[in-house]
Amino acid sequence: MTVIEIDGLSKNYGADKAVDGVCLRVEQGEIFGIAGPNGAGKTTVVECASGLRRRDGGNLRVLGLDPQNDRRRLLQRIGVQLQEASLPGAIKVGEALRMYASFYDKPADWRELMDEWGLTDKRRAGFASLSGGWKQRLFIALALVGNPEVVFLDELTTGLDPSARRTTWGLIRNMRERGVTIVMVTHFMDEAAALCDRIAIIDRGRVAAEGSPRELIAKGRADSLEDAFLVLTGGETA
Ligand SMILES: Nc1ncnc2c1ncn2[C@@H]1O[C@H](COP(=O)(O)OP(=O)(O)OP(=O)(O)O)[C@@H](O)[C@H]1O
Ligand SMILES: [Mg+2]
Repeated sequence: MTVIEIDGLSKNYGADKAVDGVCLRVEQGEIFGIAGPNGAGKTTVVECASGLRRRDGGNLRVLGLDPQNDRRRLLQRIGVQLQEASLPGAIKVGEALRMYASFYDKPADWRELMDEWGLTDKRRAGFASLSGGWKQRLFIALALVGNPEVVFLDELTTGLDPSARRTTWGLIRNMRERGVTIVMVTHFMDEAAALCDRIAIIDRGRVAAEGSPRELIAKGRADSLEDAFLVLTGGETA
């Protein structure tokens, strides 16, 4: 079953075409990666698909819903971890989880989630006092608290230490085993190769290439996904 259908998505910021005719399909249960240079339009695609930003053109369906017109219903069924999210500095970890859980009709057990993400010891810590990595973990847990069917993760592991990054890979695989469809933006090609079934490389607002890690390596006539990425985006080769 196709859970995300993006056809000819476009979004402009003034004269700047941030997204320019992106087409993507994501199947249920997939881990779908989005990679691409800084400023390519990845976050904008995620924001449009999750109902957080209005598009200028194209058709979108997520779980059969239009993110713009059926925003409320969609937000009950998806989880979003945003690249530049923030919370009031004084809010405590436990409070944030409890509050987010209250937004959903069928929330997960937020205490269990807090435990799963190693946040229980920090439950009384204020958001402002958390290091970048702990903030990131909290946002992951917040993205999962609504028991979502689809999760959008925008640079989930940026700022995590190597061990937290590997732990996160395991948790992403667990999510998928529970049937959750995952769309993840990442700049780490080792991560994309290890986790993603398929990856779209977005460059200057368009899909430059799409396929499994193996297919992308073949398309770029490269030895690794990182080299393929550089070839397919016209970047420098080593
Ligand atoms: N709110 C905004 N107002 C104006 N321009 C924006 C806004 N958000 C993004 N842009 C521009 O749109 C383009 C795409 O930005 P976007 O954040 O989607 O890229 P990205 O691929 O996520 O980049 P990164 O890898 O750095 O996160 C960029 O040129 C950016 O400067
Ligand atoms: Mg981004």
